[in-house]
Amino acid sequence: MSSYTAAFRVWRGDADGGALEDFAVEVNEGEVVLDIIHRLQATQASDLAVRWNCKAGKCGSCSAEINGRPRLLCMTRMSVFSPEETITVTPLRAFPVVRDLVTDVSFNYAKAREVPAFVPPEGVAAGDYRMQQIDVERPQEFRKCIECFLCQDTCHVVRDHEENKAAFAGPRFLMRIAELDMHPLDAAAGAGLDRRKTAQDEHGLGYCNITKCCTEVCPENIKITDNALIPLKERAVDRKYDPLVWLGDKIFRRSE
Ligand code: SF4
Ligand code: SF4
Ligand code: FES
Repeated sequence: MSSYTAAFRVWRGDADGGALEDFAVEVNEGEVVLDIIHRLQATQASDLAVRWNCKAGKCGSCSAEINGRPRLLCMTRMSVFSPEETITVTPLRAFPVVRDLVTDVSFNYAKAREVPAFVPPEGVAAGDYRMQQIDVERPQEFRKCIECFLCQDTCHVVRDHEENKAAFAGPRFLMRIAELDMHPLDAAAGAGLDRRKTAQDEHGLGYCNITKCCTEVCPENIKITDNALIPLKERAVDRKYDPLVWLGDKIFRRSE
């Protein structure tokens, strides 16, 4: 198909409220939804706010919801919709609206700051770190994260429950904890930081009931649930039922 006119419904408004606005807009072969939003800006709604940078699925800034599904605007091809379909574009629902399609995602930056960084091993100079290739490869997929926060937006723990935000880091940052916890050189435990315990007690790992919705929307196809959250849950449970940990906790508590 070469060109056609598509029906778009775009949410316009700000923190005080807003509404969906209808547009009829030209679509050309090979275009993505971000192209159409740009055409709207150029021809019908010059003040339409949208955040984007790379238009290549790498910066993670054009996150929004298309027909209710969290997606990258620049990686959603118009060809996945039929020409008759009305396409609804709305801002990420889990975060406060700034204006139109732009949301305030600072919740995620706050959560990022709450995860303690890698603790370097003592007595080994940076550059002299050595680890098995398998330990390099295992977390490699987590490093593909572009911080688009689509997983954070879709997770039902916070999507409709603002009250859970304080206690829940969300899939992206639980994945970061899992990555650090499986790092063979991370010396957090020696420095008195039990990453598994804090994942449970401070970052809300227990809220996750492994629905895998986060995995489904990840544009980098990271297996967040299977490869990060479930293994972290398993290790956290092992810790709980490890008789030595249990004994240590008891002795420690008694001596307090
Ligand atoms: S698997 Fe866990 S973190 Fe992912 S969407 Fe479901 S509840 Fe949220
Ligand atoms: S894990 Fe995937 S969905 Fe979540 S922020 Fe990273 S790239 Fe986006
Ligand atoms: S504009 Fe960078 S990911 Fe879409």
